[in-house]
Amino acid sequence: MRHKIIAGNWKMHKNAQETGSFLNDLINEMPEGKEVEVIVAPAFTNLMLATQILEDTNVAVAAQNMHQAEGGAFTGEISADMLTSIGVQTVILGHSERRQYFKETPALLANKVDTALRHKMRVIFCVGEELKDRKSKQFQNVVFYQLKDSLFHLPKEAWEHIVIAYEPVWAIGTGETATPEQAQEMHQFIREQIAHHYGNLADNVTILYGGSVKPDNAKTIFSQPDVDGGLVGGAALNVADFTAIINAI
Ligand code: 13P
Repeated sequence: MRHKIIAGNWKMHKNAQETGSFLNDLINEMPEGKEVEVIVAPAFTNLMLATQILEDTNVAVAAQNMHQAEGGAFTGEISADMLTSIGVQTVILGHSERRQYFKETPALLANKVDTALRHKMRVIFCVGEELKDRKSKQFQNVVFYQLKDSLFHLPKEAWEHIVIAYEPVWAIGTGETATPEQAQEMHQFIREQIAHHYGNLADNVTILYGGSVKPDNAKTIFSQPDVDGGLVGGAALNVADFTAIINAI
C-alpha cells in the first residue's frame, strides 16, 4: 500500500559499534506521531545487530543487496533465506552502484526480484538515469527499460511488495539534487508506466526519491504529489540529519 517512507542506505559505512550507537541514538531522537515508515539499511555484518536493537521499535531494517540463488557454492554471497531468518524482510535491489561497479544487469535484477518475492520479502527497486541520458533527453526511456526489463514480468499481486526508488545517478553523492520539478516529472512518468501495464494499482505504489537528499532540500522534494519519501545516502549517516529529513515529510 502506498505510504510515506524514509529509508537510509548506509552503503559501506559504519562498523558494529557505530551501527549500535547510531541506532540507539535514533530510537531516542525518533520523531513521534509522524505517519512515515523509517527504514535503515546497514551492512550485512550489522543486520542482525540492527534487527535486535530495533526489535520493539517502528524502525525497519533492510539489506542493501542479496543473491538470486536459494543457496549453493557462491562464496561471499548472502541469500534471501539468510536475511529473512534474522528478521530482515526488505531488500534494496538495482542500486546504481550495484549496476555500475558490480555489473548487475536488468535480467539478473529480475531474477533477484523473483527470489526476494518468493521469500515474501519487500523490494525497494532502484532506477535512474546517468547524466549523459539526461543531457541527451533519453532519461525517461532509460528508466522505462529499467522498469520493464526487471519488473514488468511480475504478476499484479507482486506489486504490493514493490517500492520504487528513483535515483538519478548524477545526483547520488554529488550534492546535486534533481529539482522538485524534475523529480515530480519522473515520478509521475514512472507511475504512468506502471498504470499503463497494470492499471489502477499504480496509485498504490510507493515511489521514493534518492540523490543528495538533505535536511534543507527534503521538504520541497517531498511536497511533490508523486514523491512518497526518500532513499537517503550520506545524510542518513548522521542522526540529526536523518531525523530532520524524517521530520520534513
Ligand atoms: P546520497 O544521498 O548520498 O546522494 O545517496 C543516495 C543514494 O544512493 C541512496 O541509495
